[in-house]
Amino acid sequence: MGVEAADWRTDLQSVLLTEDSIKARVEELGRQLASDYSGQHPLVVGVLKGSVIFLSDLIRAMGIPLEIDLVCVTSYGQCATSSGKITLLKDLSADVKGRHVLLVEDIIDSGVTVARLADLLRKREPASLRVCSLLSKPARRAVACEPDYLGFEIPDEFVVGYGLDYAERYRWLPYVAVLKPEAYI
Ligand code: PRP
Repeated sequence: MGVEAADWRTDLQSVLLTEDSIKARVEELGRQLASDYSGQHPLVVGVLKGSVIFLSDLIRAMGIPLEIDLVCVTSYGQCATSSGKITLLKDLSADVKGRHVLLVEDIIDSGVTVARLADLLRKREPASLRVCSLLSKPARRAVACEPDYLGFEIPDEFVVGYGLDYAERYRWLPYVAVLKPEAYI
């Protein structure tokens, strides 16, 4: 049995967003997006890995014809010596030119990942480009970047679950929890 299986509950301080509250908010976002993108066959782009749980629930809540694609980036935006740059580890498969693109993130923290990815995608001339993030931590913002659609604004706590990890752990939790500082310091 691995370390996570043995002691993961003791690393959690509190549940910040319950499974039910996430489900309700995702359904609201889905209804709004379905209305805004009606008839536009949007290209919904998830940012690996954190967004995959949100992405899969969100597209089903939207319930309109759409395509999905995935992109994988690393950023150095949270380091003291931040360059504010991202490196593309996996590019999109689709051509975004002329498409209505919705970028889906699990969290906007410094804002570097979404801001730079949006810059990159805009150069490819989409018909439109909007951002939908489940979570946002405005207290951590280093570059100007606000999502067009947001699930929850949260305080500056280390959160895990519903796709978010600490050292690849906890992504599978169906809720969002605050990690105890002693679990990651
Ligand atoms: C997390 C998250 C966002 C990014 C947000 O990804 O999924 O992509 O950080 O941070 P920023 O606003 O400061 O750029 P991470 O690099 O941890 O990879 P992961 O999605 O694989 O967990």
